[in-house]
Amino acid sequence: MAYPPSPFKFVQAAAAALNQAVAEGYHLKGHPTRPAAVTRAKALTDHQSDSTLRIRLRTAQALGLVPEIYVLSPAESAEIERRYHASNDTDFRAWVLAGRPGRVASSPHGEIALAGLNAAPAPAAPAATAEPPTAAERREILRLNEHIRRLEHQLRGGDENAAIIEKGMSLLGLLQDNPRPPPDWLLDISHKPDAPGVPVIDFGDWHIGETVLARETFGANDFNEEIAEKRVKHLIERVLHLAFHHVATPDYSGAVLVLGGDFLSGQLHEELLATDWCPPPVAAAWCVAHLTRAIAEFTRAFGRLVVVCVPGNHGRLSRKPWAKLAATACWDHLIYKMLEQNFANVAEVTMLVPPDGEQLIQIASTRFLIMHGHELGVKGGDGIIGALGPIVRGATKVGRQQRSLGRDFDVLLLHHFHQDLWLPASGVIVNPTLKGYDEYSRAQRYRYEPAAQRLFFVHPVWGCNSPWAIYLQPPMSREPHPFVALPSAAAPIAGVL
Ligand SMILES: [Fe+2]
Ligand SMILES: [Fe+2]
Repeated sequence: MAYPPSPFKFVQAAAAALNQAVAEGYHLKGHPTRPAAVTRAKALTDHQSDSTLRIRLRTAQALGLVPEIYVLSPAESAEIERRYHASNDTDFRAWVLAGRPGRVASSPHGEIALAGLNAAPAPAAPAATAEPPTAAERREILRLNEHIRRLEHQLRGGDENAAIIEKGMSLLGLLQDNPRPPPDWLLDISHKPDAPGVPVIDFGDWHIGETVLARETFGANDFNEEIAEKRVKHLIERVLHLAFHHVATPDYSGAVLVLGGDFLSGQLHEELLATDWCPPPVAAAWCVAHLTRAIAEFTRAFGRLVVVCVPGNHGRLSRKPWAKLAATACWDHLIYKMLEQNFANVAEVTMLVPPDGEQLIQIASTRFLIMHGHELGVKGGDGIIGALGPIVRGATKVGRQQRSLGRDFDVLLLHHFHQDLWLPASGVIVNPTLKGYDEYSRAQRYRYEPAAQRLFFVHPVWGCNSPWAIYLQPPMSREPHPFVALPSAAAPIAGVL
């Protein structure tokens, strides 16, 4: 009778898998100080002697990849080998053959352990009558165990989630190119010379999900789900009110809605993870619902709508910023693609979701580059002028880059800085934030600005004009005080108008 491969060979196969784990573990976990150990482990892969087996297993232990390993001594290996071939005990043979990498178990015949990979839960010993697995089956078990371990490792690391989400989205067919080009009317409104121009409604930095407390911001701001709901409703109403009741000739060919990114908190930092009112998927669904309502209302009011969608940094899926997949591995992108699906059959709505995260577009006679603003390629700031220095330096750098690519523009439309800057003559506009003043602003000693978004117009002759900040909170006001006064505990500023 021909015996199946010995358990010792089984142990050797486990060690070969270990080598792979060592090499990949080194790469994934990044142990730059131990290249020699890994090189040695790799070099030993093809040698299956008893001594090299021990070296490989100990190398893996040293790298912290295999927390529980029991290394067979030569005597133990010989004992398994001898008893396996000598015994007709089917229980014993089934136990040996069912042994998985990492299993340290008691056999019905005493304490004998198998070396292997991470200590996994031991499977139930097969019944005595069970057919032992074939050599091919055991190899497949090893391969699958290793595959599972790698997937678990990926799931533990946030960076790898980006690729997983990306793959999932492509499976859903959400990553196709923009189905429609920008419409011609963006460039041609000359038949209405006394019209105010093309309305541009700029939404961004909503940070849905984040909690801001007035008691932690000198009474300046509260932000939660209820207040976000009120602000978005007020915002949509005010845009329509200003565009149609504060303009003498509200005769529009259509409007542009900019979605400038950072629509959800994204739990990018530990403090957000601890205090956000909801996780990113819930926030994304919230944003899709409310933006769908906004797009529908604006399309009905203005007749046609171009929606420019650029992603921010708070929705990214990786812990650190990535250059690759920077625009698509982001919750904002998922929101935009769902909006695109919602309006796929509405001819009056054109969605632009650039896969590189920046949209070049000409509105009337002005060429805009629209982006979130976290990738300006500059750092630093100044305690006095705040973000103005980096913004202007960044705009200069972006302009030089874009000219070299044949993508010249007149105005850079930014978000991200949570600051209201209207400098179109200098080529920069920065949109304020719906979330408003927060604990970070307090800690960084930033100047207070009420939560706001912006509506402005682009005239074919006069370019950017009529900027209206749509305030969602009142300004901080100073009450007349007696000679000596303390700030009131509950300032009336928090919340919404
Ligand atoms: Fe933001
Ligand atoms: Fe941002």
